[in-house]
This record gives sequence, structure tokens and C-alpha cells, in this order.
Amino acid sequence: MIKKMKLPHIPPYKTKMIEPVYFRSKKARSEKIKEVNFNLFNLHSDWVVIDLITDSGTGAMSEQQWAEIMLGDESYAGSESFFKLKKAVKKIMGFNLIAPTHQGRAAENVLFSATLKEGQVVPGNAHFDTTKGHIEFRKAKAVDCTIKEAFDTSTYHPFKGNIDIEKLENVIIKYGPETIPFIVITVTCNTVGGQPVSLENITKTKEIAKKYNIPVYMDIARYAENAYFIKIREAEYKEWSIKAIIKEMFRDIDVVWMSSKKDGLVNIGGFIALNNYELFEKLSQFTIIYEGFVTYGGMSGRSMGALAVGLKEACDFHYLEDRIGQVAYLGEKLKSFGIPIQEPTGGHALYIDAKKMLPQIPQSEFPAQLLAVELYIEAGIRGVEIGTLLADKDPKTGKERFPEMELLRLAIPRRVYSNAHMDYIAEAMKNVKNRAKELKKGLVIKKQAEILRHFTVELDRK
Ligand code: F0G
Repeated sequence: MIKKMKLPHIPPYKTKMIEPVYFRSKKARSEKIKEVNFNLFNLHSDWVVIDLITDSGTGAMSEQQWAEIMLGDESYAGSESFFKLKKAVKKIMGFNLIAPTHQGRAAENVLFSATLKEGQVVPGNAHFDTTKGHIEFRKAKAVDCTIKEAFDTSTYHPFKGNIDIEKLENVIIKYGPETIPFIVITVTCNTVGGQPVSLENITKTKEIAKKYNIPVYMDIARYAENAYFIKIREAEYKEWSIKAIIKEMFRDIDVVWMSSKKDGLVNIGGFIALNNYELFEKLSQFTIIYEGFVTYGGMSGRSMGALAVGLKEACDFHYLEDRIGQVAYLGEKLKSFGIPIQEPTGGHALYIDAKKMLPQIPQSEFPAQLLAVELYIEAGIRGVEIGTLLADKDPKTGKERFPEMELLRLAIPRRVYSNAHMDYIAEAMKNVKNRAKELKKGLVIKKQAEILRHFTVELDRK
């Protein structure tokens, strides 16, 4: 009899092409970060050793995707690549109509131009900042209905991206269903840590929406990662394939939009998908004004072809197991060094609790941004603040608004880094933790924009 022996896990791919990484001294980095006003978005990428600023558009494409790049049909109208994308969306997600856009926020712009008016209210689970930005830009209001467990990094909940159904219903009653053009479910929920939403919760949200006759929209940037969590954490779906779970997630959802730079496994792109032809016609006018003709909407033919392949590859169980497993691997390492992280680990990133790591720095001095700066100086790792800077000031009162959590996000690009890189990140974070007490003061703002300020803000040490 052949005995079954367990082998270690390895990624389901190997490397065909490499990119160089440049190393600098700690002293050089600490001068550089001052020169760029303590804003990590201002760093040239050759000053970064491991870039964890985002998992968006930073993944590595497969050989099949590169082959599609060569096959790209760049016709202005009726591109063959568009039809490949349309077919993939129909097959994987079940939607008949698709409007490509150049990225996720462009999809928000097109979709909200057709569906959202001043004074309206959009409840959802911790809307992503561009979503919130596009809602507030139209003088409408985004109301966060995420479950309270999401805001305590140390409590375990398998689906911290879930909507608090009672809160959702109260919000609908408070503002009146007629002021709510749609509810948004973001899968996975980036803002609270790449945390998934369960199918049970999606179903309950749809029930409430149906009761009040409100459409449900989904922001599906990380739909495949969400499906993976459902398979491994929601008992009822254990035996389901990722593809079947995805179909179930999208059943009776009115509209989805996607930043394809995440689970589309491409470097740029986005789309809106739906079955309602009337709404499609309405939003197509905005596609044409803002993005381009309806069969490319801001994407090149070759990008649409690569996306059609990427959408399929992202649904592969072994790929997802490796991808989310790598995030969990880094999480375990960080935990073993006593670094406070959002638990359980999410799909695309690690979220470090800056309030716990730097309790001496008040929120008004941007502790998560300070942590990002210190990690950069320590080891050239670039993360991003998800805290007071990102939250922006209240657009009505102009006052600073302090979110419940101050997080440093370390987003892991798809198929780019190895577990050796994860070990480097964990060691660097440990070094920062060991000198955290010495940091007595935070940062102050020198210059800022009114909306989405974190991209361009200029800071100084206090
Ligand atoms: N929705 C979600 C959930 C997102 O995470 C993002 C982008 C967008 C919409 C907007 O898409 O960037 O293509 O315009 N998130 C990136 C991030 C920027 O780093 O998390 P986009």
C-alpha cells in the first residue's frame, strides 16, 4: 500500500520574468521621507524595497494573460477583446450587460452619475474611500452599517465585513426608503481589513432591501477572495466550488462594479455589470462622456483580453489558497512577535493596529501614518495609513473626524512576493515595535486637499 505523505505547500506557479529591487541605507531613507513631506505616495518606487502600498494593479500577470495582450483587438467599436470580456463576465458572474471603465472609481463615477442624487443616502458596509468620495461629491451621504465586531481588532469573527441587519433597517426607517437609491455591499470589505461578507448576510441584506423595494449593488473588487472565505468559513458552502459560490453571491444583485486591478489580476481596468437594460442605456451615456465608447470605456483591447483571462484565474481554488495563505502566513509571523493585527487576517492585506502599537500618540497626530513612516525608514517597506488621514475632514463641518480604528495596511500584491519577503516584513515590524516607545510625538499637517487628502497631504514631525 502506498502511504500518503504530506508535502509542504508551494505556490501553483513559477517565475518567468523578474524585476530588480534597489536597497538604500536607513539614513538615506530617513532623509528621503522628510524630503517627500512624510507622504509615502510621493516616493519614487526605486526608493521602495517591498511595496505594500496597495494590492491594486500591482499583481503579476500569467503567461496566458500576456498571450491575450498580443491578441488584443484595438478596434474603437466592437472589439473582439470586449466580447471576450463580456463572455467571461456572463459565465463567471451571470450578468448580461457590461460597461468597461478605466478603473474602479471610474465605474463609481459612471454608475453614480446615473443613479445617485444630492440629499440621498447610501447605506453599506464601510464604503471604500473612493466610493464614499463619489457619494459625498454628489452631496449624498454614505452610512456605515458594518457589524460592530469589525472595529475591534482582537475579537474573532469569521465575517467581519458583514452588515448589521438591524442597523441597516433602522437607517432605512430613519431616512425613509425613498431617499435610498441603493444599498452597497463591498466584498471583501477593504476598509475594515479585507474582511469577508457571508452568504447568509448577503441573503439577509437582500431580504431587507426587497422589503423596502431598494436595489442592492455590490462593489466586487475582491469577489473571488470573498468566495474563498465563504467556502472555508461558512459551513453550508464547504463542498461548493468557488465558481458556484460566486454565482450564488451575485444572485439577484441588481448591479455590480469592479476595480479589476484586484481580483481581475490586471494592472488597470474596471467595469459595471448588470442585467437591467434600461439602467444600462442610462449609464452608457455617462460611459461615453467620461470613459469612451461603450465597447472599451477607457480600457485598451489588450487589457480587456487580459482581464477576461484574469477573472477566470482568480477563481482557481489553489491560487486563492496560496494567495490568502500567504497573507495568513505573514499574520501568524507578526502575531508571534506580539504585533497587534486585525484578526482574523483578511484577503489582501495585514492591518496593524496603530492605536495599540503607539498608544502614546493621539489620533490627532496620525499614529498609523507615523507607523508607516517608521516602517519605511526601518526597512524600505511602503504601507498605507487607513485612519484619520484617509477618513478626511467632515465635508459639512470641516472638522477632523476620528475613525474608530487607526490602521497601517500592508497590502500584498498578487503573485509577486515570496514567503521570504514576508519574513523580512515581519522582522522589520518587530524592530519598529522594539523602538515604538521612543516615539514621543506624531505628525502635523502642513498642507491638504479637501477631498481624498491622503494622496497629496504634506506632513511634518510634530
Ligand atoms: N472599491 C474598493 C473596495 C477598492 O478597494 C478600490 C480601490 C476601489 C473601489 C476603487 O478602485 O482604485 O480601481 O479606482 N482600492 C485600492 C486600494 C486603491 O489600495 O485598496 P480603483
